[in-house]
Amino acid sequence: MGREDNQPDWDKIAEKFDIWLPQIAPVGTALLEKLAARPGDTILDMGSGTGEPALTLARTMGAKVQITGIDAAEGMVKVAQKKVDTERLPGITFQTMPAEKMSFADNSFDRALCRFGVMLFEDPLQGLKEMHRVLKPQGRFSLAVWSTPETMRTLHWSYQVFKDRVEEAYYPPLAKVTSLGEPGTVEALLDAAGFSDYTVEAKTFHYNFDSFEDYWDAVEASEILKMQYDQLPDEQRHQIRDEVGRFARDFVQDGRLVIPHDYLLVYGNK
Ligand SMILES: C[S@@+](CC[C@H](N)C(=O)[O-])C[C@H]1O[C@@H](n2cnc3c(N)ncnc32)[C@H](O)[C@@H]1O
Repeated sequence: MGREDNQPDWDKIAEKFDIWLPQIAPVGTALLEKLAARPGDTILDMGSGTGEPALTLARTMGAKVQITGIDAAEGMVKVAQKKVDTERLPGITFQTMPAEKMSFADNSFDRALCRFGVMLFEDPLQGLKEMHRVLKPQGRFSLAVWSTPETMRTLHWSYQVFKDRVEEAYYPPLAKVTSLGEPGTVEALLDAAGFSDYTVEAKTFHYNFDSFEDYWDAVEASEILKMQYDQLPDEQRHQIRDEVGRFARDFVQDGRLVIPHDYLLVYGNK
């Protein structure tokens, strides 16, 4: 059984999460651009998972910046830290810590970022309050959160296909994943956390696979829907794949599967 909110068990799938990194890389690029880190900055990556986009920043800026990644799942942190050790990257370290209760002093970071983490926190408001607390005055932040359910297309497909087959307690976590996507929601949360100087931009990027088979192999191999799959008799696995494949047909371009996904790019200053 996964988490209560049906998120994947991040500890258990940590070694497999990197399958998705190439797909979500454009969001990391957008976040780092808005973050505009400068030499000398102290930088916090919240819900840093297996290390991106913090690692990309470390590879670019080296010892000129001091980066700390935090994540609640120890398994994810271990995968991230292993990359630091293997590549002998200076100026970056990962720690296991909940976003809602960080051990850092007030006003300790020049920059903070979070890719597809905030809406998954147990308490997103408390996580953002913590981000506000640890940012220095005028400190800059950038966040990416998923947009509305229909535009988180791949999860929406899986949601539609699983929901008639499993009990509600096992639905794919579409509600949690898109919980900050409706207009005004992330703004209300930022306001309540103490931020007033920020911009929210609606953005689209694309998952890009050689074929539908390639996409579905990634879903299965990453075990991102393991909790849902475990509820099904084996013979239904093929049906699930075929039904999702029907949704995917509309997104085949020149033989490739190109699937638009919307998100909100949020950036501003403390
Ligand atoms: C979708 S992954 C994104 C990982 C990484 N930011 C990336 O973009 O590759 C979400 C991450 O949020 C982490 N997470 C969930 N709830 C958390 C919390 N309360 N505090 C810190 N991290 C949390 C999960 O463990 C997971 O690693």
